[in-house]
Amino acid sequence: MSLTTLKPLLDDARKRGYAVGAFNVVNLETIRGVIKAAETLSSPVILQLAEVHLPYAPLEYMAPIMIEAAHMADVPVAVHFDHGTSFESISCAIKNGFSSIMFDGASYPLEDNIRLTKEIVKLGHSFGVTVEAELGQVGGAEDGNKSVDHHLTDVAEAITFTNSTLVDALAVSIGNLHGQYIEEPTLRFDRLKALKESTEIPLVLHGGSGISPMDFRTCIKNGIGKINVGTALQLSSSEKIKTYCDANSRPAYFSIMDFAIEGTYETVKEHMQIFMSDGKA
Ligand code: 13P
Repeated sequence: MSLTTLKPLLDDARKRGYAVGAFNVVNLETIRGVIKAAETLSSPVILQLAEVHLPYAPLEYMAPIMIEAAHMADVPVAVHFDHGTSFESISCAIKNGFSSIMFDGASYPLEDNIRLTKEIVKLGHSFGVTVEAELGQVGGAEDGNKSVDHHLTDVAEAITFTNSTLVDALAVSIGNLHGQYIEEPTLRFDRLKALKESTEIPLVLHGGSGISPMDFRTCIKNGIGKINVGTALQLSSSEKIKTYCDANSRPAYFSIMDFAIEGTYETVKEHMQIFMSDGKA
């Protein structure tokens, strides 16, 4: 069914009340695990590569594999560049065939975030590529939940931001954090609801690893159409590889690769079912 942009995926998700999972891939095993889960469940999916992972998974190597995996899949697949921070890295992703990109200007003051995001939207749209941006700041879970409130997405700013930039999707900060949560996250559904009611745009939840099934469902009801999950895939694959290596004095490399695929596959499948994207391809 092949390569697509975010727009048709997020339009359908909104119409039918589900969310599309965007899974961070870092090698062939994670790509294969994600695609296998999507095909098994007949689910649309977003394969994403984060700029921060490029030292482990160079974009020029990953792009052709991700794009070919999308073309060969029998479900719709968007190939997305996650947390791009510069015009250069985003141009490189577009040049290498990504169908969708994210510009993360969340650390800039509002005016600068708007100005830079507008330039990226102009670039992306001229190539038919969809653009996600971030407002409010999703931090790292390793710092704990303490400073979350200072970085929540502001509703009035979100209206100004989406009207002036014309982005296709907006990543919001509602108490979610990237990585392994130290304390249980308390998501601000009141804020999410207000953001949904005042902007027309599909909203994106980052930091999906460790959020409870019930909270995911409440997010989806309140406007979240794309959910990013990364850490959970790595944890389940590492766990499987560790169990295998602990039980074998001479572990076989190909078996390790199989366990890496399997860990990703199982975790992605679980999330797709929670997101209700199964059977929607
Ligand atoms: P986690 O690694 O916390 O699931 O977050 C993934 C993410 O949001 C990538 O942008």
